Amino acid sequence: MTKQVDVVVIGAGAAGMMCAAVAGQRGRKVMLIDHASRLAEKIRISGGGRCNFTNVDTTPQNFLSQNPHFCKSALSRFTPQDFLALMKRYRIAYHEKHKGQLFCDNSAEDIIAMLKAECGIGNVEWRMPCGVQSLAKQGDQFLMETDMGTVQASSVVVATGGLSIPKIGATDFAYRVARQFELKIVEPRPALVPLTFDAKAWQPFVALAGVALPVEVETGAKKTRGWFKEDLLFTHRGLSGPAILQISSYWQPGTPLTINLVPDMDIAQTLIDGKSTLKKNLGNLLAQWLPSRLADEWLRINGFVADARIADMPDKELRRLGTSLNQWAIVPDGTEGYRKAEVTLGGVDTRELSQQTMMVNKVPGLHFVGEAIDVTGWLGGYNFQWAWASGVAAGQAV
Ligand code: FDA
Repeated sequence: MTKQVDVVVIGAGAAGMMCAAVAGQRGRKVMLIDHASRLAEKIRISGGGRCNFTNVDTTPQNFLSQNPHFCKSALSRFTPQDFLALMKRYRIAYHEKHKGQLFCDNSAEDIIAMLKAECGIGNVEWRMPCGVQSLAKQGDQFLMETDMGTVQASSVVVATGGLSIPKIGATDFAYRVARQFELKIVEPRPALVPLTFDAKAWQPFVALAGVALPVEVETGAKKTRGWFKEDLLFTHRGLSGPAILQISSYWQPGTPLTINLVPDMDIAQTLIDGKSTLKKNLGNLLAQWLPSRLADEWLRINGFVADARIADMPDKELRRLGTSLNQWAIVPDGTEGYRKAEVTLGGVDTRELSQQTMMVNKVPGLHFVGEAIDVTGWLGGYNFQWAWASGVAAGQAV
């Protein structure tokens, strides 16, 4: 027997639950389907278990997309303040950690429970765990074959997210649906992800694994340029930490990153100017400005002697050292992939969608929300803000 509802939302993650709750509370008969056995696993593991659920400073400039204007409408109609108002109703305590990033005081579970309760108010019907085998359009209706029978609806919202962390249930469902309806897809790739290097080229840096420091990092030029001032972490296979996760979304394979390991200081000039006044040896001097393990290794890797006195060194050598620290140019050979990526860059091309409703222009009734579409936020709560905002935009329209 075919079950008839108004709206089927496929994917009960951040965007899907928000969308289902909003549509249900408007009086629409909503079914929310997810193939996972645990609800909203990505919210649960996010922000180290405390979910960095938004960023108070969210602007469209914090997102990457082939179509940068697309996100503006939804973001302006459901803001971080709107999400905070919802949290207030549920008395969920939160705090700001760093650069506008808001985290739950207690646990990400509070957000999951809140969204579940909001779906309850909207009488959302759950199908979980439940896979969707097929989706077809017949006239103005959609027919879905699922593990729990056939469902018919006049609107379908695809909220199945991106490809990151396959072991907790990420699939390419959204891209398959997009291809089925002949929609363009911006090639997906891992983003907010550690970068890796050729094992041989990285060998000299392996001893630095675990060293962290604030840096400036940049890549690309003009429109594709990314620049961040954040912490960097050396790992056994390459580089990680917020600075690298951020820049990974901008990095193009085969191109270099330029890293300033001592921001706000011109090392070469400082050393040259200080030849007569700076009495310490090179190793001790660098250790004032860098973690000491990095200072020692950096001198060794670059062929300097730690106990050399700068007064005895030619300016050319001091300049070479300064450049190596202030403009370390390095070419990653890849990323840690979807296994470690926080998000997927690319996705359903937003030029196929209405920015007001997230509906596919040429397939009335079919919507895509959240990470499945080509809108990718920076690290710092922006991706959840996009999930909430795009979910609300579709929820108000279906
Ligand atoms: P989301 O991935 O949340 O939900 C998709 C749902 O669809 C899942 O429930 C999945 O089971 C279901 N699904 C998938 N395929 C299906 C299929 N074929 N059939 C049925 N159901 C299917 N962002 C942020 O702003 N702040 C943060 O602190 C973090 N932290 C963070 C940590 C880690 C480790 C990761 C991996 C990611 C983050 N993120 C984040 C990113 C954030 O989690 C992500 O952008 C949002 O969850 C995206 O919301 P969506 O609803 O689009 O997808």
